[in-house]
This record gives sequence, structure tokens and C-alpha cells, in this order.
Amino acid sequence: MNSTKLWLAVFVISIAVCFLVGAAEQKFTLPPETTKLKPGPGSELVTAQCLLCHSADYIATQPRLTRTVWKAEVTKMQQKYGAPISTNSVNADALVEYLTKNYGKENPTNSPEK
Ligand code: HEC
Repeated sequence: MNSTKLWLAVFVISIAVCFLVGAAEQKFTLPPETTKLKPGPGSELVTAQCLLCHSADYIATQPRLTRTVWKAEVTKMQQKYGAPISTNSVNADALVEYLTKNYGKENPTNSPEK
């Protein structure tokens, strides 16, 4: 082996080692899944009615929605996705109440979204 080839081999090997070391050092830590909703009045109801189909993340990762938007969200879950909540029920109101208190904002006047 002449010296050019030798150096080329050393070069290629060092690059390979760099890749291996790099790959070994990459650790991915996913954020913990929020499987539970915030405790409080209505949380059991929302857990029962809303977590049938998806995790609490769907609710927890939303921006702080206004009451109107949460109401629309509950209606959408009912009508579009078939969530078993009867329309105009005390249930639906309690869900919206809980969602607005815990994952929304009560005062819609300064809301950017609409
Ligand atoms: C029958 C099944 C089902 C139930 C019950 C259900 N959802 Fe959903 N939900 C869905 C589906 C399907 C999606 C859309 C999933 C996707 O886009 O990946 C969704 C998405 C969402 C989203 C994300 C934003 C959006 O509009 O797509 C939110 C927030 C949400 N649901 C809240 C709720 C709340 C609050 C309840 C309880 C009142 C609820 N869901 C009950 C099926 C359901």
C-alpha cells in the first residue's frame, strides 16, 4: 500500500468513526405524554367523554381558547367525529365550562383568534 492510499484509508476510517460516535450520542427524549387532564370540577366528565378517541394532549396542546371556540370544538367532536355527547345537554355545558377554565381563557376581549 503506498502512502496516499494509506492516508486515504485513515481518512475514510476516521470519518466512519465520527459518524458512529455521532450516531451513538444522539439521544431523543420525547416530551412526556400528558395522559391526564388537570384535576378539578368536570375533569372526570371530560376524561370520560373526550379521551375515548385521543389522548389529553389534543386538549392540552391547544392555545388558550375562548369559551366560544371550546364550545365549537365540543360541537365539532360531536357532529364531525361522532363523540357521544348529546347536543344542548348539561353535559356539553359542563365540558365547555371545564375546558374554558382549565385550558382556555375566560375573557375573550383580548383574544387574537376569532
Ligand atoms: C369519537 C371520537 C372523539 C371523541 C369522543 C372526541 N374527539 Fe376530539 N378528535 C377526534 C378526532 C378524529 C380528531 C382529529 C384527529 C386528527 O386530526 O388527527 C380530534 C381532534 C381534537 C382536537 C384537535 C383540534 C381539532 O379540532 O382537530 C381537540 C382540541 C379535540 N379533539 C378535543 C376534544 C374534546 C374536548 C372532546 C370531548 C368533548 C373530544 N375531542 C372528544 C375524535 C374525537
